[in-house]
Amino acid sequence: MIQYIVRGGKPLCGEVTIAGAKNAALGILAAAVMTDEEVTVENIPDVSDINSLLEAIRGIGAKVDRIDKNTVKICGATINSTTVNYDYITKIRASYYLIGALLGKYGAASVAMPGGCKIGSRPIDQHIKGFKKLGAKVSESDMITATASELKGNHIFLDIVSVGATINIMLAAVLANGLTIIENVAKEPHIVDVANFLNSMGANIKGAGTDVIRIMGVEKLHGSTYSCIPDQIEAGTFMCLAVATKGDITVKNIIPKHMEAISAKLVEIGAEVYEEDDSIRVISKGRPIGSTVKTRVYPGFPTDMQPQIAVVLSMADGNSIINESIWEARFKYVAELRKMGAVITVEGNTAFIEGRDLLTPAAMAVPDLRAGAALTIAALAAEGISTLTDIEYIERGYEDFDGKLRALGASIKKVDSEDDKEITKFKMQVV
Ligand code: EPZ
Repeated sequence: MIQYIVRGGKPLCGEVTIAGAKNAALGILAAAVMTDEEVTVENIPDVSDINSLLEAIRGIGAKVDRIDKNTVKICGATINSTTVNYDYITKIRASYYLIGALLGKYGAASVAMPGGCKIGSRPIDQHIKGFKKLGAKVSESDMITATASELKGNHIFLDIVSVGATINIMLAAVLANGLTIIENVAKEPHIVDVANFLNSMGANIKGAGTDVIRIMGVEKLHGSTYSCIPDQIEAGTFMCLAVATKGDITVKNIIPKHMEAISAKLVEIGAEVYEEDDSIRVISKGRPIGSTVKTRVYPGFPTDMQPQIAVVLSMADGNSIINESIWEARFKYVAELRKMGAVITVEGNTAFIEGRDLLTPAAMAVPDLRAGAALTIAALAAEGISTLTDIEYIERGYEDFDGKLRALGASIKKVDSEDDKEITKFKMQVV
């Protein structure tokens, strides 16, 4: 088993270049199969969730050429199956975007039930409601199967603001007959990015980024070259790292507008945050101040940053409250953080944190992607040697996480947990 071994306790400083947004790229890569012409997608992150989706796209017969680690060419002309049923695809969430994409293009899709991080029950009733409103028949077992002789535009009101349902319905509707209006949609930057990509392929989508999206169906889509937006959550993670380690980190290649909720919170808890055109510098000189955080849909504070800010606040001067409004099981990391001396009580969807001056090193197991990044931040802040197992969760969504951390001065190594020699060598290193 591969683990991180971390020697924490020093301020991390320097510059880090942020990769493309995983959750935008997943929607965009699924959308790329909707034309028979070649599509080039740039700035995709080299992470395992993306690689799994690309394998699935290759598996249905599309041509997938990885030009380099961040660029892929896809051609959907050779697709010979609308069934996506592989073991690995059930591990990722975004496999469900192939339902919308294949249903829209071929009027048929059968995709294994999506998996993803276990952060709460993850129903897809809103996706299915949308497909049905467009005229599809949908059945659910181990597979979700959707078929339609013709998709027709319709008026769809989502009961819940859902990133996945918004993108999936948008995918199916771009090639439907007539006008589709989707109300109460998600407004996250990746929704806008997927819509922009589809429009670059000839789709007619208006209103992405607002509460209502209008889609006029078109006959067919054409090839395109498109670059994904930077990853808001990876950037926010490194910003929290600067605060937790009392460091000075500049996150580069970002869109500061997407970072507003995170930047505002970090300023509120005492960090210095300097915005440039495409970068943000975060400097922290002392302990953060306790605060209240409520996760909300965009432009609110993102749920995908909740564990990282909790780690920061566990070292704050004063008490904090974190209210998680999106996922009902996103506090699994708290048990691990308590091993480091954090004082946190969870009641329902709220965590109460008593700030502590110092965290102490511990051996921890990563429960999910964002929690893994957060626990790594905690390990880098605590003076001494910590270990983290199950780091494959982190690799689902962070490109070269340990490499980027080392470039900021972190002492972190990926080792086989059986490799006592390497572990001893790391522990013996003179610092
Ligand atoms: C996306 O998940 C992201 N994943 C998640 O990021 C992120 O936490 C989430 O959006 C919220 O921002 C991807 O983009 C691949 P939702 P998604 O549909 O689309 C309920 C990460 O760490 N709901 O917006 O699955 C649902 O239970 C991951 O990168 C329904 O009830 O999230 C949840 O409470 C983790 N019915 C809420 O809506 C539905 O049909 C929001 O879910 C759909 C969702």
